[in-house]
Amino acid sequence: MVGKLLPILEYPNATLMRPSVPVDMGSLDQFQELIEDMIYTMYYHEGVGLAAPQVGQRYRIFIIDQRPINGNQKTDPWVFINPKIEPVNDNRVLRPEGCLSFPGLLAEVARAEFVKVTALNRKGEEFTMDASHHHLFSVALQHEYDHLEGTLLSDLAKGKDRLAIKKWAASKS
Ligand code: CO
Repeated sequence: MVGKLLPILEYPNATLMRPSVPVDMGSLDQFQELIEDMIYTMYYHEGVGLAAPQVGQRYRIFIIDQRPINGNQKTDPWVFINPKIEPVNDNRVLRPEGCLSFPGLLAEVARAEFVKVTALNRKGEEFTMDASHHHLFSVALQHEYDHLEGTLLSDLAKGKDRLAIKKWAASKS
């Protein structure tokens, strides 16, 4: 299966701000094409992660690939369906994040330093990943999970970054 390029919704599209619904495992087959298209679309834009609501599908699916590009064509991201995440310690870290729904923007967000995630893969098999040794992956997991809740950089950024997002949004319209 070869994916196709999907349009990415940008802030302040209302779909991005609504919570997504779980995928019914009985209909997982119907989601394979969407997942393939999300993979194609994320790599096309050289993104680290993409959540289904960003392509207008309010289902609890996201993909992540934080590996450096190194000139190689990447085809095989982590796929998370109906994920649950939890922090593994109390540390919180502030760092800048980008988002394909806020092109050209970076905003600092405070996140749990490390999380673990339990989700289903494309075959519907449950897996758990402990990202305790990988802060960037932990950040990506939290960022993409937030998309499934309708929570965006615009909700999380503070101070001057929040103002920068307002200006960015105003400059688009
Ligand atoms: Co994002």
